[in-house]
Amino acid sequence: MAKKRLVVFTGAGVSAESGISTFRDAGGLWDKYPVMQVASADGFARDPALVHQFYNMRRKELLGVEPNAAHRAIAELEATYDVDVITQNVDNLHERGGSTRVLHLHGELMKVRSLRDESRIYELTEGNLMVDENSRDEYGDGLRPHIVFFQEDVPMFERAIELVRSCDIFLIIGTSLNVYPAAGLLVYPPKIAKIIYIDTNPAKVDWRAGIKVVAGKAAEIAPTIADLLAEE
Ligand code: OAD
Repeated sequence: MAKKRLVVFTGAGVSAESGISTFRDAGGLWDKYPVMQVASADGFARDPALVHQFYNMRRKELLGVEPNAAHRAIAELEATYDVDVITQNVDNLHERGGSTRVLHLHGELMKVRSLRDESRIYELTEGNLMVDENSRDEYGDGLRPHIVFFQEDVPMFERAIELVRSCDIFLIIGTSLNVYPAAGLLVYPPKIAKIIYIDTNPAKVDWRAGIKVVAGKAAEIAPTIADLLAEE
């Protein structure tokens, strides 16, 4: 029998217990750094050095952390389900936790791309993490983080909609569902799909009937995820 289609939609909360800051919780990243300065198209145009500095710092932080039990539990679901992960996170902890199909809606921290040609994308390595406004690629072109800045389109959104439309189960973990269009994915699971939302402080999702909300830390709930999905 074909495996059921599971789409796992994650946000910063899934990586919180690895030691990566969330954005909107108290003390989160957007408390410390004004979002429009470090993560918007205007901010990058105004002060690229500052934006590079911000992402360099986050890359360094990423190297020092490990996937947690939630990332690993999601990867293990591939034994039972046909799994696609759609993440708003720019870290690579899903991949390092073993997930094989990961769509990054908001880009990837460990990649940069050419300012001239957005199809030229470069993977950074541990020994080559720091990028600044003077960095150049092999064609002599400047580089920018491979991140979807605020004020920019989300190029992977159409693909994400396709995936969600074809799911049997939609599992949402660790997102405040504040940022659009990403949060808008919730309207796309088929009516008969089962929807589960795990978050320490879940957003209101009562506008869609039948969502099972589980309040708690992703890594603590991780050992029970398989049972939650199997429940009728
Ligand atoms: P937020 O910081 O908005 O929300 C994090 C969510 O994780 C909140 O709902 C918390 O309650 C929850 N949370 C915190 N710790 C948790 C834990 N241990 N286990 C489970 N849940 C936990 O982050 P996102 O929703 O991911 O975009 O934010 C979406 C986007 O906004 C990000 O991708 C980023 C940001 O601006 C860009 O930079 C483009």
